[in-house]
Amino acid sequence: MPRVLAQESSAAPREDGKGGSRRSSWGMLVTAGVGGTLVALYAVVTPFVTPALRRVCLPFVPATAAQIQNVLKMLENRSGSLVDIGSGDGRIVIAAAKKGFKAVGYELNPWLVWYSRYRAWRDGVHQNTKFYISDLWKVSFSRYTNVVVFGVPQMMPQLEKKLEEELECDARIIACRFPFPCWIPDRTIGDGIDTVWAYDLKHDLKHPGCETKSLEITPETES
Ligand SMILES: C[S@@+](CC[C@H](N)C(=O)[O-])C[C@H]1O[C@@H](n2cnc3c(N)ncnc32)[C@H](O)[C@@H]1O
Repeated sequence: MPRVLAQESSAAPREDGKGGSRRSSWGMLVTAGVGGTLVALYAVVTPFVTPALRRVCLPFVPATAAQIQNVLKMLENRSGSLVDIGSGDGRIVIAAAKKGFKAVGYELNPWLVWYSRYRAWRDGVHQNTKFYISDLWKVSFSRYTNVVVFGVPQMMPQLEKKLEEELECDARIIACRFPFPCWIPDRTIGDGIDTVWAYDLKHDLKHPGCETKSLEITPETES
């Protein structure tokens, strides 16, 4: 009896050692898997959550199909360059590029920018579109003649001032869902959440400089 016990006890540690090392490799694999998944989740989710923590909270809410159609109506008889301020997944930029605009989007969320580039490539308009990972408050929009924004009420007064300072007189600004607080719109279409307002700087009496500039280029006033 004691001999049998002695044999059993000498065999036991060898088996435990093999099982233990197998268990610890599985443990490491699971830890690496869970850790990797958490890091990936953090990297994807953070850019969507951080806008809510900024002074002006501007979350990603994509434009509805009706909203996009209203924006396109406001762009009829217009041409040149276009910018969507906070371009999200690029749907407005891409829709405008399909209508022949050189369209640009500025967006803080890198995932949305990469996705927008992919969508533009998939829809065959990548040559007429550009997407930048940028903070809208740190960019000048002076070179654009058509400006689209789907903002939030808290940011509109500050953005109104910024655009007033930067844009040329022939610019048209199109606001989706929330209008600018001081400007008087030249045209309004749609209703409810799909409402869109258009503001033409040269017709805006709040811009005396623009009035002067548009007079300067008319032939009658040159003589
Ligand atoms: C209401 S969504 C509009 C998206 C798109 N323009 C559309 O109509 O479908 C606003 C977008 O602005 C982006 N955004 C928020 N803060 C920003 C900032 N400081 N600079 C640039 N983009 C910003 C958000 O990530 C979001 O995608």
